[in-house]
Amino acid sequence: MSADSYAESGEFIDVLSHHAWRALRTPVTEALRHARPDRGPIVDIGAGTGLGTLVAARAVPDAEVIAVEPSPILRAALLARVVGDEDPRRRADLRPRLDPAAPLVVTLQPPSEPMTVPETTFASVPIGRHSYEGSGGARPAGPDSVIWTMRYRVIDEDGAVERELVADYLVRPLRTATAARAGRRRLRRDDRGHGRHGGHPHGLMHGSRGSTAAATTFDKHENHCHGRVR
Ligand SMILES: C[S@@+](CC[C@H](N)C(=O)[O-])C[C@H]1O[C@@H](n2cnc3c(N)ncnc32)[C@H](O)[C@@H]1O
Repeated sequence: MSADSYAESGEFIDVLSHHAWRALRTPVTEALRHARPDRGPIVDIGAGTGLGTLVAARAVPDAEVIAVEPSPILRAALLARVVGDEDPRRRADLRPRLDPAAPLVVTLQPPSEPMTVPETTFASVPIGRHSYEGSGGARPAGPDSVIWTMRYRVIDEDGAVERELVADYLVRPLRTATAARAGRRRLRRDDRGHGRHGGHPHGLMHGSRGSTAAATTFDKHENHCHGRVR
């Protein structure tokens, strides 16, 4: 198994994340409305391919933006996204590891407690004659963890599956109360974003301080991937 959890599934992450970020753009922009660039940078923890990094950068035009992404393949996509855009490029700081303190916006992906989530298709994106499709479901893996099983498919114009990758990710749900304690001040909840899995709402927590605690919680989050390609 590769040390990069996204070594195989990384191909699919960006193409299947655009629709989620169309829904998240407005609530994330609003959550950052009162961000003070003079008080510190915006930190995007687990930036993935940078779709949210760009949203945050545009929401706070003068802020330094630190994007933390441990996966080399996703960091390569993040770098490609940032290098192609003159403005975030001049103030972005891309890192594989987390910096300890900064304003924090967390998108909480359900479930917030270990529970079963039936497999649901969350995106289907036509590219030429093919369609890239992503689905996922979760099952409890212990008292404080779930396993998300993600299925990524490339489907041809006749509906036949040309390629399929199944990847398991062990995730420790970040409970709303934990995020609230971490945010401490000026915290508010906003459920208007649409979840990427089965239409569950995203909870969006905005805290102006205390990101160290939340960052530590998030940093403990582990994931494992055992993908198979056929
Ligand atoms: C579900 S993806 C979300 C990506 C991106 N934020 C988006 O919404 O499109 C979770 C991301 O968190 C990253 N991640 C996992 N463990 C992490 C950790 N301990 N610290 C920082 N990022 C982590 C993964 O590599 C992955 O890019």
